[in-house]
Amino acid sequence: MAPFHSDRPALVARLRAAGCVYAEDEAELLIAAAGSAEALTDLVDRRVAGLPLEHLLGWAEFCGLRVAVDPGVFVPRGRTALLVSAAAAVAGPAPAVLELCCGSGAAALVLHGRLAPRWLAAADIDPAAVACARRNLDPLGVAVYQGDLFAPVPSEWRGRLDLVVANAPYVPSGALALMPAEARLHEAPVALDGGADGLAVLGRVAAGAAEWLAPGGHLAVEVSAAQAEALCAVLTGAGLVPTVVHDDDLDATAVTARRLA
Ligand SMILES: C[S@@+](CC[C@H](N)C(=O)[O-])C[C@H]1O[C@@H](n2cnc3c(N)ncnc32)[C@H](O)[C@@H]1O
Repeated sequence: MAPFHSDRPALVARLRAAGCVYAEDEAELLIAAAGSAEALTDLVDRRVAGLPLEHLLGWAEFCGLRVAVDPGVFVPRGRTALLVSAAAAVAGPAPAVLELCCGSGAAALVLHGRLAPRWLAAADIDPAAVACARRNLDPLGVAVYQGDLFAPVPSEWRGRLDLVVANAPYVPSGALALMPAEARLHEAPVALDGGADGLAVLGRVAAGAAEWLAPGGHLAVEVSAAQAEALCAVLTGAGLVPTVVHDDDLDATAVTARRLA
């Protein structure tokens, strides 16, 4: 029970009128997060104004874990559970793992628990994402580097990684304006914009993975179903052997790609 009075039905009605589909659940979470009636009013006002619930709470649920998410940082999506399970499925025992484009570091956090990696690190170009990922991953002793794709990763790992995981931006630039306001206005453009065809960053990830993976190692990336074929051509062109996985329930597509031994 919250230590203050809250008019729950009125709160739910306000959230629902603002377009919150899971208004009851959101009301519970906001009440639990607020320490006072004033704080609750402030949280609800900002939610109704369009701030993502996760940015207000300061965390998101991802693959059963609570992941800290700071303002402006990409909110981990439920569909990315497919990327994580596809990556875990191709990783061998005690792998050396790198998460690129890590955002909050959600995927690395889950893979740390699932894989018992002998080495795990994460990297992102956005300082806000790096600070957030460090909050999630420092307690596990997982290093988070800041920079463009592989550039900040210690060079001793070039050609020795067993698994590279990346949920890189893949929204075509022309489709950004069609995204929900929560993403468009409250997540950094660098987290979303994948260039003209959406594959600009993924193409560079593929080229880098061909150098940084050990022979027989795997890259695992997320993409939209409509982009999967074009991405497979890019991966094949980089010398990798792609496999597409899709999950209708999650509305998710991931591609794993093996570097030939
Ligand atoms: C779609 S978000 C995914 C974040 C996280 N992997 C997740 O699933 O929650 C893409 C991330 O890629 C990062 N990013 C974009 N371009 C990058 C680049 N050239 N090098 C490193 N990170 C990049 C963004 O800062 C953002 O955090």
